[in-house]
Amino acid sequence: MLKFDFTNVFNEKIPNGISENDIENQKDVIYNSINQLKNNIPGFVEVVFNRKWINSVLNIKNFVKSYENLVVVGIGGSALGNIALQNSLRPINWNFLNKKERNGNLRIFVIDNVDPDYVSSILDLIDIKETLFNVISKSGSTAEAMANYLIVRGLLETHGLNPKNHLVFTTDPKKGVLRKIAETEKITTLEIPENVGGRFSVLTPVGLLSAMAAGIDIEAIYEGAKSAYNKTINEDIWNNPSALIALVHYLYYLKGRNISVMMAYSNKLYYLADWYRQLWAESLGKAYSKDNKKINVGQTPVKALGAVDQHSQIQLYNEGPDDKIITFLKTETFERNIKIPHSHIEKELSYLQGQTLSKLLNNELYGTEAALALNGKPSLRITFPKIDEFNVGQFIMYYELATAIAGDLFNVNPYDQPGVELGKKITYALMGRKGFEEYNVTPSNERKE
Ligand code: PA5
Repeated sequence: MLKFDFTNVFNEKIPNGISENDIENQKDVIYNSINQLKNNIPGFVEVVFNRKWINSVLNIKNFVKSYENLVVVGIGGSALGNIALQNSLRPINWNFLNKKERNGNLRIFVIDNVDPDYVSSILDLIDIKETLFNVISKSGSTAEAMANYLIVRGLLETHGLNPKNHLVFTTDPKKGVLRKIAETEKITTLEIPENVGGRFSVLTPVGLLSAMAAGIDIEAIYEGAKSAYNKTINEDIWNNPSALIALVHYLYYLKGRNISVMMAYSNKLYYLADWYRQLWAESLGKAYSKDNKKINVGQTPVKALGAVDQHSQIQLYNEGPDDKIITFLKTETFERNIKIPHSHIEKELSYLQGQTLSKLLNNELYGTEAALALNGKPSLRITFPKIDEFNVGQFIMYYELATAIAGDLFNVNPYDQPGVELGKKITYALMGRKGFEEYNVTPSNERKE
């Protein structure tokens, strides 16, 4: 069960800070929003109360487990959730372990970018005969995912392998080119529910297949997610993490804090911050309100890693402009621990010797948090008693719900992303795609490819 601490949000030292009264004053808006989530259950919530989605991946478990590697091919919401689940719930060196150490589970790779150096580096690492490729695209029209799919497919064909035996598509139940190819070629396919958009889709087969392949307990992720939803719709505002997350970020945004930093004091939790970055940015950064007024709102999410970024970002966070609200992610239990040995008699090192790295890291978090509070900067803290499936499931659902509630506060539709479309269309035009000629902006000399 995650623990939330909002004490430093209400710190009196914060210039132009928010008070508990400010929260009370927003109760009606919040309860309206929560009633919506109760009466008109969003697709991303529906999935965790329906066994259909878990069953759909369990049905192909034997097929999947006959491979050594699973490579996810997808981008944005079709990749970031997978990366977050793998990094938080598997050891950091997972792909370097042998099959026995992995309990027979698969190594997991994600190809999201179309950087040829990056793509080659993964393809060089795997034995293609022992690899299953999970091509994920809700629309089936994303250039990066499709380009990487074509590369993978070409590679399978060059190796004389039957693509059908090495591919699983995860896509829209009806629409898109992947669905069409799957039907023609009888390729194994998993559905992404029609009413769940990319960045909200990690708890659909999008994230479930690679998680199951790595031996992650997907049922426990669902249990965590369900408990977060139940808490959100039943609890009053002060015991309601989703509502409080949405509200404190919104209220501080109104006071000029237009940057939301998520700083994880755990390498394993860092990728949850990356997942959050997409969710918060793409859902809330909008030009138009729900009633179509030009408003240009949004809070820029930034990820940071403790203690590393104490030596990179913290100077700015402490002394720079009053434009940030910071969320710390902490774990009480690390998978491993290391004791710092007594190797020297020098007094300067004695405070470290005999201590553990986990104690040092968590005290660095407390030190940073206290310094920020003394400098009048707001922060909140989310504690994972342990980084396990239940707690990660809770985290995901709390944040998806917080984003939905924040959508109401900002008065924007959190489920669309019109601002991404124009760049995509211009890229299509530059790549010579038929039907997009009107978007052809003449490339400058530097841009010509
Ligand atoms: O949240 C979203 O909808 C987007 O970020 C998508 O996930 C991303 O653009 C990839 O889309 P698709 O799954 O259609 O390839």
